[in-house]
Amino acid sequence: MTDRSNHPEGVLSLQNIAMPADTNWSGDVFGGWIVSQMDLAGAIHVERFSKGRCATIAINEMTFLVPVKVGNVISCYTKVLKVGNTSVQVQIEVWNSHDDSRAPILITQGVFTFVAVDVNGNKRQISEQIKQEFLAN
Ligand SMILES: CC(C)(COP(=O)(O)OP(=O)(O)OC[C@H]1O[C@@H](n2cnc3c(N)ncnc32)[C@H](O)[C@@H]1OP(=O)(O)O)[C@@H](O)C(=O)NCCC(=O)NCCS
Repeated sequence: MTDRSNHPEGVLSLQNIAMPADTNWSGDVFGGWIVSQMDLAGAIHVERFSKGRCATIAINEMTFLVPVKVGNVISCYTKVLKVGNTSVQVQIEVWNSHDDSRAPILITQGVFTFVAVDVNGNKRQISEQIKQEFLAN
């Protein structure tokens, strides 16, 4: 997992702005909203990576480090950690991007597992070529 430096790891897969409707009674953004952003970011990455649909099978690890406030721009960075026969494990970091004048802050990090699925939602094999390309990089 990330060493919590101010350096995002992986590729930028999704950005969004926290809105008033995403908050709890304390004015902080719901953890569930952040998890859904991470799920979308991971799915975008894995669908590109596996060249087809995917489904979330597990959230293996999750840490909320600092709260998100309304108006914060969140950036989700994703990085493939492991490729199996049908599954792809992805590290997902959420950073508060602020503006260019301040260093970004790591808000949340997690490890999600996705399974490559076909049009009927049945699991499908990740191709050998994709696995070899991943191992080579
Ligand atoms: C995705 C789905 C088609 C997989 O079918 P399945 O028969 O359950 O699959 P398996 O048990 O063979 O597991 C498939 C892969 O996931 C991995 N996996 C299963 N459970 C896991 C877990 N808890 N953590 C990490 N990996 C897991 C398996 O190791 C396997 O990986 P591999 O093929 O790379 O070796 C099926 O589970 C499904 O439809 N789940 C619901 C998905 C969904 O709706 N997600 C959204 C939730 S809101």
